[in-house]
Amino acid sequence: MNAHEGKNIVWHHSAISKLDRQRSHGHNSLMVWFTGLSGSGKSTIANALQYQLHQRGISVYLLDGDNLRHGINKNLAFSETDRKENIRRTAEIGKLFVEAGIVVLAALISPFEEDREMAKAIVGAAEFIEVYVKCPIHECESRDPKGLYKRARNGEIKQFTGIDQPYEEPQNPDITLDTSILDVDKAVANLLSFLEKKLLFNGSEK
Ligand code: ADX
Repeated sequence: MNAHEGKNIVWHHSAISKLDRQRSHGHNSLMVWFTGLSGSGKSTIANALQYQLHQRGISVYLLDGDNLRHGINKNLAFSETDRKENIRRTAEIGKLFVEAGIVVLAALISPFEEDREMAKAIVGAAEFIEVYVKCPIHECESRDPKGLYKRARNGEIKQFTGIDQPYEEPQNPDITLDTSILDVDKAVANLLSFLEKKLLFNGSEK
């Protein structure tokens, strides 16, 4: 039984539909979910994509894992259970953005296939794009932009993805961006061409 069952909570339908809102924005809405190791380039690419979409008049918002953990997810740590809840909340927020007609980007390590599948199920597969930001661990570790790999190797940080907790590679991502080969501009160009058709508003339900 769900927590809300038996609590007399009824769903209220909106007089404005998602299609109405997409029409106002002049484009479709969807969620682009970036997964990958810490230091792989998720936030950098998602930020650059956000900028380019904004420049093209697309209503877009980036949900960054690190930033969410300063607010709505501040009570969560890095156990498997907390990561799952982190992803569930982010997907639920993303679903609201999609409902509001906005393109929402999410950049979270999201290391477990099962949790990413949950995110896709929450948002709806037709409006969910999984982007695997691929980079070998040794390359992420040599970049170490926040000095966290060093601290994890010293045992100062536990449950660190790729060190003492696994990262499960996506089995079927919509796009893979290998950042050991691609620079940010090329990665963003790939994403823009992938998204172009999907964002064209044609007034049909997904
Ligand atoms: S997720 O696994 O739950 O999706 P999320 O993307 O929100 O992770 O947060 C990851 C960020 O938290 C990393 O970019 C890093 O800055 C920081 N961090 C702190 N501790 C850890 C840890 N144990 N494992 C991974 N990232 C950590």
